[in-house]
Amino acid sequence: MASNGGREHWGSKLGFVLAAAGSAVGLGNIWKFPYVTGSNGGAAFVLIYLLFVLILGLPIMIAELVIGRHTEKDPVGAFKLMAGRSPWTIVGYLGVLSGFFILSFYSVVGGWTIGYIVKSISGSVAALHDSDSAKSLFSAFTSDPLQMIFYNLLFIVSCMFIVIKGIKNGVERWNKILMPLLFIILFVLIGKGLTMEGGLSGLSFFLKPDFSKITAASIIAAMGQAFFSLSLGMGAMITYGSYLSPNEKILNSAFYIVILDTLVAILAGLAIFPAVFAMNMSPQEGAGLIFHIIPVVFGNMPYGSIFSVLFFILLFIAALTSGISLLEVITAYTIDELGWKRQRAVLVFGSIIFLLGIPSALSFGVLADAKLLGALTFFDFMDKLTTNYMLPIGGFCIAVFLGWKYGLDKTIHELDPDTKIISLKELWAFFIKFISPVLVLILFIMLLRSDFIGR
Ligand code: TRP
Repeated sequence: MASNGGREHWGSKLGFVLAAAGSAVGLGNIWKFPYVTGSNGGAAFVLIYLLFVLILGLPIMIAELVIGRHTEKDPVGAFKLMAGRSPWTIVGYLGVLSGFFILSFYSVVGGWTIGYIVKSISGSVAALHDSDSAKSLFSAFTSDPLQMIFYNLLFIVSCMFIVIKGIKNGVERWNKILMPLLFIILFVLIGKGLTMEGGLSGLSFFLKPDFSKITAASIIAAMGQAFFSLSLGMGAMITYGSYLSPNEKILNSAFYIVILDTLVAILAGLAIFPAVFAMNMSPQEGAGLIFHIIPVVFGNMPYGSIFSVLFFILLFIAALTSGISLLEVITAYTIDELGWKRQRAVLVFGSIIFLLGIPSALSFGVLADAKLLGALTFFDFMDKLTTNYMLPIGGFCIAVFLGWKYGLDKTIHELDPDTKIISLKELWAFFIKFISPVLVLILFIMLLRSDFIGR
């Protein structure tokens, strides 16, 4: 297939894996995973999450990479090429739309990380010695409309800046250096958290499952989290796969990306929960969780302010490498399908995303009481809509399309030749045809019941 031979490719194998891992590893792992785990009862949620990563995430990750390399297109172009002018292209458009929606609230939290870099440098983080003062710092910050809009803008402009530079120079270069540093600082936090008095009860909250805490809503949240954290269900991995050169091994890369992403989430959990319990805080703090906890841990540590600056810089970079993958999907679509210049695409769509993000940016202050559907702030609404609905629907359609409509026979050669006793190719084919779509469907019915009938 793939006829456009001039397409830009990744500079190296490591470059691709790190860029794709850079897309996957982000706020979803370090900010969202701990707070969603905390709100859903801890270890039992984590186990279900891990199960979904394995039986939904991994097969769909492979499927997206296969579609991307097979077509060398953006998500819309890929479906057009494979399905002609049929309703299947809607899946591609849905993906591009999800990119808009996700980045619009993602950049709000990305903006928080920049704000906390500034606060760490200015010394206001070092001055925090207890969780109450950390909480009031956070709420004063997030309820200030001017700062929220300013930092949101700063984050989007940073993404735009890198995406304009293109794949190899922009997206690829950053990831290579920064990923290893992130690991080091997480280990420092884990070490500190575990040695705090009372830290071990946090460890058992995170690792010792209590299945009585599992509800339909938490199972759904685990599925959504798996899609979100692995950047699946909207064609981000189709787009990144489209820059993948023909001799790269997809199965191999997919394994690395999934393992790296999961590892960072687990490390983030290990870093946060011991500290939560040691400080007698509730794990159910919601979206502010890590901002209530981590600054205090640093505040009580020798050289804490240096670590704190470093931590928030790395968190910002992790968010940035994910943010650029979201913007890259939209950009690739306009370049490939509408023939726009890269620069124009980025400027136009970056601005639209910024405007769309304003209500989310104000959701912790002036718009905190403006509830949609009776319960959700604009920020939460965007998050739920994409994480629980759009991404799983996208992933479901990708699996059904590849497994049943387009046919695996035409694409399976994209996978590495099997060397093992069990055929990994066949295993994948079985999952993508039967297990993943059926599971998403069942969970989706549960979701509809809990969101609409249960109320
Ligand atoms: N996975 C990223 C994170 O964990 C967020 C992200 C980037 C994303 N690209 C995506 C989520 C595409 C869904 C789809 O922070």
